[in-house]
Amino acid sequence: MVNRVPLLAGNWKMNKGPLEAENFVKDLASTIHDNESLSKAVKARIVEIGVFPPFVSLERAKKGIFISGIPMSLGAQNMHWEDNGAFTGEVSGEMLKEVGCKYVILGHSERRHIFRETNEMIGKKMKKALSIGLKPILCVGETLEERDGGITESVVEEQLEEAFRGLTGPLNQEGNVIIAYEPVWAIGTGRKASDEDAQRMCLFIRKFIGDKFGFTAAQNVRILYGGSVKPDNTKGLMSQADVDGALIGGASLDVESFLGIVKNTIDVLL
Ligand code: 13P
Repeated sequence: MVNRVPLLAGNWKMNKGPLEAENFVKDLASTIHDNESLSKAVKARIVEIGVFPPFVSLERAKKGIFISGIPMSLGAQNMHWEDNGAFTGEVSGEMLKEVGCKYVILGHSERRHIFRETNEMIGKKMKKALSIGLKPILCVGETLEERDGGITESVVEEQLEEAFRGLTGPLNQEGNVIIAYEPVWAIGTGRKASDEDAQRMCLFIRKFIGDKFGFTAAQNVRILYGGSVKPDNTKGLMSQADVDGALIGGASLDVESFLGIVKNTIDVLL
């Protein structure tokens, strides 16, 4: 029996400066602390809660987590593939590790579409993150046009193929890669993919990992769904066999809605 601990990852995007980030994490922790069953479940790591603040807020968020004593993981929203050098405005994976990041989101659709990140660039970032022990959360997903054109699977397959190009099996054996299926049309629109579609695509991704890296890798890899996840649509989503958590944008910016998602996930699991 595989035990993949669901990850509920709050991608804050360009929201919350350092002070607000620290205060938010403390508020989140104290609300968890005050609720006995929730606090027990989070401390027992029945679910993993992760926050992904902007670069400048990482350190203060880390401080808030440390002071609170509630287990929460920290991650960044992007990184460069080189360790250092003349790359104005960029941040390296080693720097993210130094401030306490465990995860880094790579290839988010906003990076792909607004900042023109290519599959090739994302592949380089994947290699670097894995080589330095930073766990990537690789985002894949189709646009509405691609979905309407019936090419969802082939778009996602190409994104996966390029992201994992040149990487070998053992890199993925310990469950150190997370993949997030985020259909572009569902992000920030209030239009979540149906539970069946989310399950179908998460299974498609798991099969890809199985074909490329073998059965154990496929069983270990956590696959998240992202796109308009809210407390009231969490239970259906989290009941799907191949959905191992959620990458949450808007609803992760508010303590009550983020914890609503956490609680509803725990309800499904217990
Ligand atoms: P929303 O939850 O706001 O739709 O954003 C999803 C997302 O992009 C998470 O990375």
